[in-house]
Amino acid sequence: MDTMTSGRGAFFRMEKINKFYPMGEEQAHILKDIDLTIDEGEYLSVLGPSGSGKSTLMNIIGCLDVATSGRYTLHGRLVEEMSEGELARLRSEEIGFVFQNSQLLPRLTARKNVELPLIYAGVGPRERRMRACELLERVGLSDRMEHYPNQLSGGQQQRVAIARALAGNPTLLLADEPTGALDQKTGRQVMALFRELNGEGRTIIMITHDMKIAGNARRVVHIIDGELTEGGGTNDA
Ligand SMILES: Nc1ncnc2c1ncn2[C@@H]1O[C@H](COP(=O)(O)OP(=O)(O)O)[C@@H](O)[C@H]1O
Ligand SMILES: [Mg+2]
Repeated sequence: MDTMTSGRGAFFRMEKINKFYPMGEEQAHILKDIDLTIDEGEYLSVLGPSGSGKSTLMNIIGCLDVATSGRYTLHGRLVEEMSEGELARLRSEEIGFVFQNSQLLPRLTARKNVELPLIYAGVGPRERRMRACELLERVGLSDRMEHYPNQLSGGQQQRVAIARALAGNPTLLLADEPTGALDQKTGRQVMALFRELNGEGRTIIMITHDMKIAGNARRVVHIIDGELTEGGGTNDA
């Protein structure tokens, strides 16, 4: 084990991360020498226009995709060196994902949607149910647990998705345009929830093209055409 696993220092570090996608004969250069270090408990927003590489970066951060080159260290361990099994464990135990569209399963109730990752994690039925109920209460949906997604508003669906992302009690919450499909009022509710979760010590990385939404985070970095720059503090300083 190296020194980064002890102490609470850098929880997450990317060094010179590059991503290329094949494009005909050429290689499209999507992420360019990205350096990014995040400490435990941070609330970071990655702000950039459509097509700037945000989702590509998010997928690498979430270990759903790998960089073409560079080093990515999570919890003091080099992600490039992990086996498929270790990566799968990391994704299910350490990382919670929230996407623009809640991506709930339409044939499962809110509660069952939240239970799903716990089924994969091998948690027994009683505890699963209890944890799903707690989490749905946590996001303000105690009276909607047995509703199906199409019986819920967009904001409620997104809150179910957040409860699901929290089911494995992840240290890192990753959100890609979490308010992109919501009206302003509902978006504000989701942002309030993120602040609460961060206040409890959870590390959050939120990706957005919306400056106002980005302002909810404690730290903002900008991504333009695959290049990342530090954006300075925000209203929460
Ligand atoms: N699988 C892929 N193959 C080829 N090009 C891709 C792929 N995924 C994304 N891209 C390209 O990479 C660029 C960045 O995409 P993306 O990360 O989705 O941007 P954002 O999330 O900021 O809108 C875009 O030009 C997109 O067309
Ligand atoms: Mg995107």
